Amino acid sequence: MNAAVITRHGDLDGLQLQQVKVPEPGPDEVRVKVYACALNRADLSLLRGLSGPGLREKRLPVIPGVDFSGTIDAVGDEARAQGWEFGQPVVIYPGVFCSECEYCRQGEETMCDHYQIIGEEMDGGLAEYVVVPARNLLALPDSSHLERVAAAPATYTTAWRMLFTQGGLQPGQKVLIVGVGSGVATAAATLAHRFGAQLFGTTRDPAKAERAKELGFSSVLAGYERPFDEWVAQQTGGTGVDIVVDSVGARTWRQSIRSLRKGGKLVICGATSGDVPEISIREIYQNHRQILGAPCGNLREFRQVMGLIIDGAVTPVVDEVYSLGNVHSAFRRLASQEQFGKVLVRP
Ligand SMILES: NC(=O)c1ccc[n+]([C@@H]2O[C@H](COP(=O)([O-])OP(=O)(O)OC[C@H]3O[C@@H](n4cnc5c(N)ncnc54)[C@H](OP(=O)(O)O)[C@@H]3O)[C@@H](O)[C@H]2O)c1
Ligand SMILES: [Zn+2]
Repeated sequence: MNAAVITRHGDLDGLQLQQVKVPEPGPDEVRVKVYACALNRADLSLLRGLSGPGLREKRLPVIPGVDFSGTIDAVGDEARAQGWEFGQPVVIYPGVFCSECEYCRQGEETMCDHYQIIGEEMDGGLAEYVVVPARNLLALPDSSHLERVAAAPATYTTAWRMLFTQGGLQPGQKVLIVGVGSGVATAAATLAHRFGAQLFGTTRDPAKAERAKELGFSSVLAGYERPFDEWVAQQTGGTGVDIVVDSVGARTWRQSIRSLRKGGKLVICGATSGDVPEISIREIYQNHRQILGAPCGNLREFRQVMGLIIDGAVTPVVDEVYSLGNVHSAFRRLASQEQFGKVLVRP
């Protein structure tokens, strides 16, 4: 089969289109014929060999691709006994978990002692076929949903956990989303808008600020020439926002914290611009502010948010769709940070 394989860390030369053996499912696994796979910043980080505190060891070679949908192509015996069948359209939860440790028993799969991610520690969706555990599958009503769900698993599950589980978002609350063009940011905006939040955003790019209005933002600040917390204060009558969603990291954290009202929550899932911000601890505790992390969401949160997408209640933003043969262009698009929403690849 055709697959994009990361053979060494570094630049795009480390990502190669190869012919590899079609994988065979084990008893509790299925093989999925991939319909579409969405890229995440994690795919770029994997290619570049990003390492440091909080990041797991990577193995190479590996087929990247965390988020994908497809149809079941082969079924292991145990998976068949659970009711999975050839031809079913499915979307896949990207975290692999043991089901047995204390965290899995609590339903917190991303805290699993043996946690791995499909497309990082094991082969992912930038290929014609991929083998996944049956417990990671969510059945789709029909194949018409395959494209929009492919754009969603990691970003929407993460955004859901940040806004609702961690942030405790209530209708009418004010939410600031930093870096509005990112996959996580567009997912968070779509969900928060649907839930009746008042949205503010920041971006480096005036064109993205314009597009973001379609997602329901009341106002978006383009450019970081002046501290955005001053702008947030003006927009909110001096009080600040209830929740800030920040996946940008070091570059924006200080202003994100200052943008919070008293008792407000900074919810985080990434550190694209660096993981060591310059902050004042006093600016946090003196104002009863909280910082809450979410590397992704659990299986229950994945099912909840995918349900909204399957029902058409929210629609993921797709930036561009590339063929697998053109996967280098898809990676270049993500690296350029010119994308607005998700970059998809179709085998
Ligand atoms: N994708 C997921 O499902 C997921 C899940 C958990 C965690 N994460 C983490 O969350 C982060 C975002 O992931 P993603 O896939 O959504 O990323 P992405 O689509 O590649 O977007 C990154 C965005 O961050 C902003 N940005 C980057 N560098 C910046 C800088 N120096 N200063 C200001 N803004 C900057 C840009 O927004 P503007 O162009 O609008 O300025 C850019 O578009 C990553 O660190 C990732 O590891 C992602
Ligand atoms: Zn576990």
